[in-house]
Amino acid sequence: MRTRVRTAVLISGRGSNMEALIAAARSPDYPAEIALVLSNRPDAPGLSRAREMGVAVQAVDHKIHAGREEFERSMQAVLDIHRIQLVAMAGFMRMVTPWFAEQWRGRMINIHPALLPAYRGLDTHARALADGVRVHGCTVHFVVPAMDEGPILAQAAVPVLDADTEGSLAARVLRQEHRIYPAALARVARGGLTVTGNRVYDAETAAEPPALVVPPV
Ligand code: GRF
Repeated sequence: MRTRVRTAVLISGRGSNMEALIAAARSPDYPAEIALVLSNRPDAPGLSRAREMGVAVQAVDHKIHAGREEFERSMQAVLDIHRIQLVAMAGFMRMVTPWFAEQWRGRMINIHPALLPAYRGLDTHARALADGVRVHGCTVHFVVPAMDEGPILAQAAVPVLDADTEGSLAARVLRQEHRIYPAALARVARGGLTVTGNRVYDAETAAEPPALVVPPV
C-alpha cells in the first residue's frame, strides 16, 4: 500500500472543517492520513469530536507559554513526535511567526472564509454583506509569513442573496469549505505541485470551464 502523508489539523474551535478532512481521509485511496488534531485551546469542541472520530488529539495551550515563539516551539515538538509531514490549519486562531511559517513552507495550508485577496482577517461575511458584493466564497492557500496571503490552491464562490444574514451567508460558504478543503489537501498530499510566485501549477490541464456569473444573465 502507498504510504499516506501524515497530516496534522490545527484548530481553535468547533472543527467542522477538521471533521470534513477526517471524513475524507477515511477513504483508503485518500493520499493523506489525519494523524493528529492539535488545538491551542484545551476546551475546543473540535478536540472531543476528533477523539470520537478516532484521531489522536493534543492541546498546546498558548496561554501558558511566555510568547509566540515558545508556544510554536512546543507545537513543533508535538508535530515532531507524531512525525507530521503536512499541516492543515482549520479555524486556527493564532497568527504564526515567520519562523514557524518558514519551517513549514510549502507544507502548511489554511482555509479562509472569503475569496482572497478580498476580506483578509476577521468578520469576512459581515464585511461582504456591508459592501453589497454579489459573490463571496472561500479560499485554501499555502501559509506564508503574512496573514491570509500565500499561493492559492482552491477557491469556491457562492452568490450573496438579498435576504442573506451573516449566518445564512456563513453557512453557504461553510458548505463549500467542506468541499474544497479535502480536495485541496489531497492535491498537496499527492505532490507534484509547482509554485511560481503566487501561482500553483500541477499536471492536470483542465478544459476551459464555463463562466460563473451571479446573478445569472
Ligand atoms: C471557517 O470558516 C474557516 O474558514 C475559518 O474559521 C472557520 C472555522 O470553522 N478559518 P470550523 O472550526 O472549521 O467549523
